[in-house]
Amino acid sequence: MIHPERYLVTSALPYANGPVHIGHLAGVYIPSDIFVRFLRLTRKDVVWVCGSDEHGVPITLKALKEGISPQQVVDKYHGIIKKSFEDFGISFDIYSRTSNKTHYETVSQFFKTLYDNNKFIEKTTEQYFDPEANRFLADRYITGTCPHCGNENAYGDQCEKCGTTLNATDLINPKSTISGTQPVMKATKHWYLPLDKNEAFLRQWILDEHKEWKSNVYGQCKSWIDAGLQARAVSRDLEWGVPVPVENADGKVLYVWFDAPIGYISATKELTPDWEKYWKDKNTKLIHFIGKDNIVFHCIIFPAMLKEEGSYILPDNVPANEFLNLEGNKISTSRNWAVWLHEYLIDFPQMQDVLRYVLTANAPETKDNDFTWKDFQTRNNSELVAIYGNFINRALVLTHKFYNGTVPAAGELNETDKAAFTEISKLRGLIEENILNYRFRDALKEFMNMARTGNKYLAELEPWKLVKTDPKRTETIMYTALQITVSLAAAGMPFMPFTSEKIYGFLNIKPLDWTEIGNSDILHAGHQIKKAELLFSKIEDSQIEYQIQKLSKSKKENEAANMKTELQKNEISFEEFQKMDIRIGTITAAEKVPKTKKLLKLTIDTGIDTRTVVSGIAEYYEPELIIGQQVSILVNLAPRNIKGIESHGMILMAENSNGILAFVQPDKKTENGAGVK
Ligand code: MF3
Ligand code: ZN
Repeated sequence: MIHPERYLVTSALPYANGPVHIGHLAGVYIPSDIFVRFLRLTRKDVVWVCGSDEHGVPITLKALKEGISPQQVVDKYHGIIKKSFEDFGISFDIYSRTSNKTHYETVSQFFKTLYDNNKFIEKTTEQYFDPEANRFLADRYITGTCPHCGNENAYGDQCEKCGTTLNATDLINPKSTISGTQPVMKATKHWYLPLDKNEAFLRQWILDEHKEWKSNVYGQCKSWIDAGLQARAVSRDLEWGVPVPVENADGKVLYVWFDAPIGYISATKELTPDWEKYWKDKNTKLIHFIGKDNIVFHCIIFPAMLKEEGSYILPDNVPANEFLNLEGNKISTSRNWAVWLHEYLIDFPQMQDVLRYVLTANAPETKDNDFTWKDFQTRNNSELVAIYGNFINRALVLTHKFYNGTVPAAGELNETDKAAFTEISKLRGLIEENILNYRFRDALKEFMNMARTGNKYLAELEPWKLVKTDPKRTETIMYTALQITVSLAAAGMPFMPFTSEKIYGFLNIKPLDWTEIGNSDILHAGHQIKKAELLFSKIEDSQIEYQIQKLSKSKKENEAANMKTELQKNEISFEEFQKMDIRIGTITAAEKVPKTKKLLKLTIDTGIDTRTVVSGIAEYYEPELIIGQQVSILVNLAPRNIKGIESHGMILMAENSNGILAFVQPDKKTENGAGVK
C-alpha cells in the first residue's frame, strides 16, 4: 500500500492575555484552516496542532495590574480563545496550552538534552534588580525615558512612541514598575543558545535550499543571517514559566520563546501516541503558519534548537503573513482598536462564513492590508449574496417548484452542460494549486469563479422560462445545476465550512471528497432534497454604521485615557518658571528643510528681533498657509544647530494623544513681543 503524504501543521500559539480578533484570524488561523481542511478532503495524513501560549512577561504584568495570579489570567483567556476558535470553525486536531504537565515535561526534557550535550553557554551578566521587591526585572518591568525621543514611559525592551528597540540599560531614569524605585545592577547567570554556531547551517538550509519560501519570509531570514547571529539567552529571572531544570537555578525560568514552540511538540504528544512519526520521520512535511512578527523565532531560533537536539525534522515551509489593519489603523488590544471575534458573533450571529470569506479575500498575504466595514458589506452583498447564494438558492428553489424536491432524470448532456463540468474541474485544479502554494486569496477567487460558472449557466439557459416550452430539456438543466451545487459545497468546504454543511444538509447527502468535484453524476434521479433556506442575506447600511460608531467610540475613550495617563512632571518653583522667556511672535516666512520629512524653517518676528527657528511641524502644516499666524515662542532657549541651520528658540505646540501638533496662540490679535506669563 502506498502511504498517503504526511503533514504536521502548526499555527502560532496565541498569547493567553487577551481575546482573539480579526487580525489573528486573517493572519494565521483562517489560512491554516483552509490548508488543513483541504488536505483532509484529499485524504492526506495530517495533524494540526495549536494551543495557548501561557508564559511571558505580558501575562505576569496583566496579573499584577488586575490583582490576580498569572494562572487565573491564562485560565480566563484560554477559555475565551478556545471558544472563539470553535465558533469560527477553526478545526485544530488539538488546542492545548503551555501551562499543562505534558508541556512542562517535554520542555524540561528538551532543555536537559541540550544541556547534557553541552549545547549551551553559561554567562553571568549584570541585570537590573529591584532591591525593594527583591527580584530581577525583566525588560517590561522597567520603564524610563527613551534616549531617542524623550518619551518618559518607554519600556526596557522598546519605546512604543518612536518604535525603537531598546536595552533596559539604555533608559534614562529607569524605574521598577513593581515598586516604583530605581533598580540597581546585580550579577546573574543565564544559559545562552549559540546561534552563531548555527550560522553556516542556517545559511545553507534557508538561503540555498529554501528559495521557494515566501519572499517576505526569505527576506527577513536573509537580513538576520547577513547581520550575523549572536548567542541568545534562553532563561530569565522570573517566577512564571517552566523552571530551568538544573541545580542552583532557583528563581529562573526558561524564556517564553524557548518553551512556546516546543508547545507544538507537547500538543502532538497529547494528541496521539504516534506523535514521533510526525516529528521525527523525514517524510513528514512540517508547516508553520505564523504572523510576520514571529518569523525569526520559527525560521532561525526554533530550527536551531531542533537541530541541536538532533532527533527532530525541520520545517518544510513557514508561510508567514503580514499584518491586517483595521480602518486604516494598526489593530491594538490595549487601545481596543479591534474587531473581537466574540463581539462580532453577537452583532452578526451565525455569520462566521461571511467574516471568513472577507478575511480570506482580503488576507495580508504579501503586504499589510486594511479591513474596512464598507468592504465587508460590499463583499457580502455583491459577492456572497449576489453570486454564490443566488446560484444555490435558484437551483434548490426551482427543484422544489418544478419537481417537489426530487432530483429529475437527465437526458443526454449537450455541449453547454459538458462545458460547465469541464470548467468546474479546471477550477478545482486551480484552487488546489493555489492552496498548496499558500495563495489562499487566489484560491478563493477561483472558488467564486466556480460559483459564477453556475450562475451563468442558469442565467443563460433560463429554466424558469424554458420549463413552459421544453420540460424535457429543463430536467437536464436542473439536473446539471444540482450537480454543480454539490461541487460548490465540496469546493467551498475549506473556505466556508458552515455554508457547505448547510448545503449538504439541504441536499440530504454526506460530504464529498475533493476529487469528486466536477463529477456530473453525484445526485441521482429520484433523490429527495430538503427545504432550503437563504445562505446569505444582505447587510444593511445601518449595521455598518453601528460598527463604525463602535470603533469611533473606542477611539474617543482611548484619547481620553491617554490624556489622563501623562503623569504630572516634578514640581518646580515660580522662580524656575520665570527663567523661561516666552513671547508672542508672528511667522513671516516658512519653508521646508530639504531632505527632511518633519522640519520647517520659520522666520519669526518676535517683537525683539527677526529670527530663524527650526520646528518639527512639517507633517501638520503647509509652509505657505502659516505665514501671518501668531505663535508662542520660547526666545531664550540656547541656540541649537538642526540639520545645518541655527535655530534660535522654540515654538510651543500642543500635542494630542495621536501626536498631532497645534499652535499655542493668543485668542485675539496680540502685539509681537508680548510676554506669556
Ligand atoms: N504567542 C506568540 C505570539 O502571539 C506566538 C508563539 S508561537 C510559538 O506572537 F511558536 F512560540 F508557539
Ligand atoms: Zn522613543
